[in-house]
Amino acid sequence: MTTYQEEFQRSLDDPAAYWLERAKDVHWSTPPSQGIDSSRSPLNTWFADGEINACYNALDVHVENGRGDQPALIHDSPVSSSQSTLSYRELLDQVALFAGVLKASGIDRGDRVMVYMPMIPQAVIAILACARIGAVHTVVFGGFAAKELAIRIDDCSPKVIVSASCGIEPGRIVEYEPLVAEAMQLASNKVDSCIVFQRSQCQWPIVEGRDQDWDTSMASATPSDCVPLRSTEPLYILYTSGTTGSPKGVVKDIGGTVVSLKWTMSSIYNVKPGDVYWAASDIGWVVGHSYIIYGPLFQGCTTVMYEGKPVGTPDAGAFWRVIEQHKVKVLFTAPTAFRAIKRVDPNGEMLKDYDLSSLQALYLAGERCDPDTLQWAQDKLKVPVIDHWWQTETGYAICANCQGIEALPIIAGSPSVAVPGYDVQVLNSEAERMPAGEIGSIVVKLPLPPGTFINLWGAEDRFKSAYFERFPGYYETGDAGFIDENGYVFVMARTDDVINVAGHRLSTGAMEEALSNHPDVAECAVMGVHDELKGQLPVGLVILNDGCTRPHEDITAELIKQVRNSIGPVAAFKLVAVVDKLPKTRSGKILRGTLRSIADSTDWKMPATIEDPTVLEDITQSLRSLGLAREPA
Ligand code: COA
Ligand code: AMP
Repeated sequence: MTTYQEEFQRSLDDPAAYWLERAKDVHWSTPPSQGIDSSRSPLNTWFADGEINACYNALDVHVENGRGDQPALIHDSPVSSSQSTLSYRELLDQVALFAGVLKASGIDRGDRVMVYMPMIPQAVIAILACARIGAVHTVVFGGFAAKELAIRIDDCSPKVIVSASCGIEPGRIVEYEPLVAEAMQLASNKVDSCIVFQRSQCQWPIVEGRDQDWDTSMASATPSDCVPLRSTEPLYILYTSGTTGSPKGVVKDIGGTVVSLKWTMSSIYNVKPGDVYWAASDIGWVVGHSYIIYGPLFQGCTTVMYEGKPVGTPDAGAFWRVIEQHKVKVLFTAPTAFRAIKRVDPNGEMLKDYDLSSLQALYLAGERCDPDTLQWAQDKLKVPVIDHWWQTETGYAICANCQGIEALPIIAGSPSVAVPGYDVQVLNSEAERMPAGEIGSIVVKLPLPPGTFINLWGAEDRFKSAYFERFPGYYETGDAGFIDENGYVFVMARTDDVINVAGHRLSTGAMEEALSNHPDVAECAVMGVHDELKGQLPVGLVILNDGCTRPHEDITAELIKQVRNSIGPVAAFKLVAVVDKLPKTRSGKILRGTLRSIADSTDWKMPATIEDPTVLEDITQSLRSLGLAREPA
């Protein structure tokens, strides 16, 4: 067995040879002869002369190799009181049929298909059907509002939207038709049609000439076969928050995604074909793309798709029930889910009702994992709890304790060491390497390994300037932290205006845009403050226009509604206060770091550059009215 150090070193010494070797583990129509082509760096070009199909690697290959009757997808939905299982053969049949529906709707190789769906098997079917025919899927999380959908429609001009009649949140049905109709209205790009799966909880009112019913279309469809595609063609676009209101359309290629994700299943997660793998996330996030859908299916695992919450559906034992019932071997979720369970059941009483003997390990990601949560999970589950760090841009972990290579000691507060393929370094603003233990910008020396983003959709300049300009020769992760003397990486905070709410990556810039659109708002700032459950919560401070005499409560209520309507409920924007002034530097920059420290009641120093220190008194009072900036005990 190789050790982690050997494996890691080999991946850096000759990346092309290392990954070409791993590429042999997947099915190619034409195997690649070349690893990476660095001639257009930082554009990431892996396996350029290979031909491949992601859907074939997820489904057909397993049916051909005798796994046809094995469960491929278990849908477990406490919110709709239903469960169902599709075998590899059944899933393949459905996917091939839906690929036929897409074809019949005029969708071809390279066309974009928007998927705006709840956590139901039809979402997986639609996504894999796109991959089957070479269409590029772009999934939008159900918690985003119409305007966010419209922004994405305008950015990647999908030909069709695949949707469902509703999502189900505890205590409320989220009807999708009004959101999709409004988005189509708002967008400048016109979408040809919608294909809609009707759920029994609510009906999508079919509009003639625009909408097709899923079941009707499937009934008359002709199954469509896998198309061999160039490895470098786009598999999907997934939008993620950047510093501005316009999200970044992260593009993943086909070959890199198949090779890297299949490899992570054995090397990071230590799961084998036939094992049950459960990523308790959502298909709208990268975790869902990589580990509800692609990774487990590439590996021939059974994947669990859970439509519910960690608590309240019906109780804090929900996760344990799913593990016992489906014999889950690996669970992957965000620390916030465990904080939610711990809050309701601090002593883990509910665990006693379930047999968790199938569970081999718990993986956490999406936000910094506080040592308390890690410790609690370890004590209660009695399995290794592995914090690992990654991003939409990378598609899988940059740092992890790779259980399939070598289980290293777990150090609370660190997602462990760099995953093979990632030369992780910490630099100061002069691009000099920081000594062990000192904080700086976390970067990855180029080339990035396969499966990481190849571009931003239609925005090559932004791709280059946002990620590769500040530190030439490196990928700038946007996270700050340090590496200790043993190579353990500690990811501490973002270096930009991105915040992380319940494991969801959100842009304060987008929220500021939404607030600025209110007619009474002259200026505003949104920052992320610490929250016990969700990690961070957004807080808005607004200055009103001169002469505005309306009651502040009315305006703040409108602002909360405005952010919810424009970004969506997922923004969890509920804290906003009116202030007279914002603290700024003499050059006019808002002192967000100071604001955050005051709100979080942590130690802070008066910034030397502040224009008017008296402003902070007023701000502190306003933050106290929101339950923040507590006075020292
Ligand atoms: N469609 C529509 N609305 C949605 C939604 C969806 N798919 N997902 C969330 N929302 C809504 C919620 O109903 C909530 O609305 P509300 O303001 O009316 O209550 C709002 O968006 C905020 O959602 P969320 O941040 O998820 O909070 P919550 O209170 O519903 O649940 C947790 C809190 C911790 C239980 C939940 O965030 C969770 O399970 N997190 C797991 C982390 C995770 O999946 N991370 C993904 C990356 S790994
Ligand atoms: P996303 O692109 O939505 O996956 O969010 C990526 C961001 O989430 C990273 O840049 C980090 O800021 C944060 N993040 C993800 N995983 C971790 C982790 N294990 N530890 C600390 N931060 C994390």
